[in-house]
Amino acid sequence: MTEVTALIPAAGRGERFGSRTNKLWVEIGGRPVLEWTLSAFENHHRVRFIVVAADDDNLPRVRKLQAQFQKLIAVVSGGRTRAESVMCALAAAPGSSEVLLVHDAARPAVSADLIDRVIEGAERWGACIPALPISDTVKRVDGQHTVLETIPREIADEKIAWRLFTAQTPQGFRSERLHRAYDHLHQLGGQVTDDAGLAEAAGIEVKVVAGDPDNVKLTKPTDLNDLIHILAPRWARSGIGYDVHRLGADRPLVLGGVIIPHDTGLIGHSDADVLIHAVCDALLGAAALGDIGHHFPDDDAANRDRSSLEFLTEVKATLQKSGWHPHNVDATLLAEAPKVAPYRIKMQGNIAQALGIDESCVSIKATTSEMMGFVGRREGMVCWAIATIIPI
Ligand code: CTP
Ligand code: MG
Repeated sequence: MTEVTALIPAAGRGERFGSRTNKLWVEIGGRPVLEWTLSAFENHHRVRFIVVAADDDNLPRVRKLQAQFQKLIAVVSGGRTRAESVMCALAAAPGSSEVLLVHDAARPAVSADLIDRVIEGAERWGACIPALPISDTVKRVDGQHTVLETIPREIADEKIAWRLFTAQTPQGFRSERLHRAYDHLHQLGGQVTDDAGLAEAAGIEVKVVAGDPDNVKLTKPTDLNDLIHILAPRWARSGIGYDVHRLGADRPLVLGGVIIPHDTGLIGHSDADVLIHAVCDALLGAAALGDIGHHFPDDDAANRDRSSLEFLTEVKATLQKSGWHPHNVDATLLAEAPKVAPYRIKMQGNIAQALGIDESCVSIKATTSEMMGFVGRREGMVCWAIATIIPI
């Protein structure tokens, strides 16, 4: 199999991002951007080695990551421009590698599929980049914010058909071609902004494979929000909740915040909504924030007969303070009677509203206990719930 090495320029200053911490050390889901990027290549079955070019201030910190990332065989000093940093990494790449990938450290959400496509493209054509067709109208604008011209996005003429694309990384090359491309660096000065640009200048044909809209480059602060959303499902957490309440006369039956006509109701300090209690515990459990008894003690008079939907709203606020947002909830109620199916939609809506999530992310199911045990004898009800949370 072809030996593949990833070269990762990580020596930039992140000026457009503008924070005191270099953008590559900003954490997403508790993990620095650079680590997200490295893990994409570390975990890719076709990548054998990784070389990083870092700025001198961060060299020791990046070198420490070698303990965590086995494929990270070299961490070298970068240069003043991205291209110079790539050149430094290139000099440290193993001579045995047949395909070299160059990937911006600032693109932490690169997918395994995209890396695959680029490696296959580089093997097949020698030089290959991922790119996305432009869908907005493109204008050339001068320093006074005046439009100079509209640049056509595509020309459909049979002989000279073309269309505009935006280039991403990783850009993949057969090793000899990347070396040949970088031989041109000093001739071209600072004019090229990507590796393929140098290859083109060297007369090397570069092919395009499908890019990925999620492969966002962290450039401006607003890119961070996009990346958090893209990466969030990769570090979601789950929690389980369980609750049981006794049934008795002279109590309204409240389930999922809905008062359901029935000859008995659940007994408890609050409204004893067993379903919401299980959901609260699942959410708190996912964030490792204790349980409902800890947050809403049953010896606190303020909680007497309180609607459990209020607990749920407070649980959401508690999660929020710790940086979490509910993503989805699934619950199973064990009740011999009454039939809850007619109230399901309303209950799901109540939970979705309290948590500020879409109704499609809340599921409630119910089952009888086939007349067995305390649920079967209609002495009480049980509810199980599972919840997934994602970082804000
Ligand atoms: N890069 C590099 N060496 C440089 C400049 C950039 O290794 N002298 C790297 C960056 O660390 C980044 C990638 O090249 O991973 C793409 O560059 P860019 O997004 O422009 O990052 P910065 O140069 O750090 O940001 P800015 O241009 O806003 O200062
Ligand atoms: Mg830059």
